[in-house]
Amino acid sequence: MAIEVHALGPGIAAEVRGLRLWEPLDPADVELLRRLFGEHGVLVFRRQSLSEHEYADFCALFGSLEHTVRTDWASRVRPEIGLITNLKGSNGNPLGGLGDGEVEWHSDQTYMANPATGAALYAVELPPEGGRTYWANLVAAYEALPERLKQAIDGKNAVFRYQKRLNKYKGADQKLSEEGRKRTPDVVHPLVHVHPLSGKKALYLDPTTSIGVVGMPEAEGNALLDKLASHAIQAQFVYTHNWQVGDVLLWSNGCLMHRREPFPSSDRRLMKRATLHLPADLHIIPKTFMPAEMAAQ
Ligand code: OGA
Ligand code: MN
Repeated sequence: MAIEVHALGPGIAAEVRGLRLWEPLDPADVELLRRLFGEHGVLVFRRQSLSEHEYADFCALFGSLEHTVRTDWASRVRPEIGLITNLKGSNGNPLGGLGDGEVEWHSDQTYMANPATGAALYAVELPPEGGRTYWANLVAAYEALPERLKQAIDGKNAVFRYQKRLNKYKGADQKLSEEGRKRTPDVVHPLVHVHPLSGKKALYLDPTTSIGVVGMPEAEGNALLDKLASHAIQAQFVYTHNWQVGDVLLWSNGCLMHRREPFPSSDRRLMKRATLHLPADLHIIPKTFMPAEMAAQ
């Protein structure tokens, strides 16, 4: 069956039909999918039924798989697969990450020097209501900015800190261990990147980790970041995904933010997640500076 592509969202997100991802793919189809992923930022495949090996091997066609940092969330069959779930084991410990609460607008790994920007979720169990995931198109959001805001952020860089996200979800008193701080020092990324395929500019934002703009007073920098984020999450830039069991969805964090709505804790949600280093010829890979380099400039 030939591949069919259906646009889903406002300039992002496409559903690809006609593929059974458990079967070997034709090399020409793989090339087409890689390009479609670069162009759309979100790719959806529905009605899939995959073993963890089949799923991981499929994801690896788009970039090298990262072993999840959270080994306690990792699958035992295939350690590159992490569980995103509210389910608990018989000992009462969570089997995976992110629980049942809201996951606020963010982009993955923005606090890393070399963020793995690709991610995939495979829906295995879903709550009857809630738990939808939203993606904001940061290319369209950039394009729609008033000219004076485009100028205000031209050449500007933001500082990202893991500790901020930790405090948001685990409480204000949570401190990173010495080792954790070493693994995630503050990093600096430009606020705007150019997409390698379209040549269009995209915002790079993460309100859950950004702590300011380099060269601006803290309050002013954060006010600017807040303004950009509230602009970017307006409905006209957002694709909402209504999950169905069997969905495989890939996204590219370099040109998007995402958020998950909460769902009732008495319901079950189980997603299998893969994390990927995507190629720079097809995806935005944020540039990174270390704050010390910036200070020396
Ligand atoms: C993630 C994430 C949202 C969801 O895995 O990075 O934000 O819908 N997940 O589970
Ligand atoms: Mn995420």
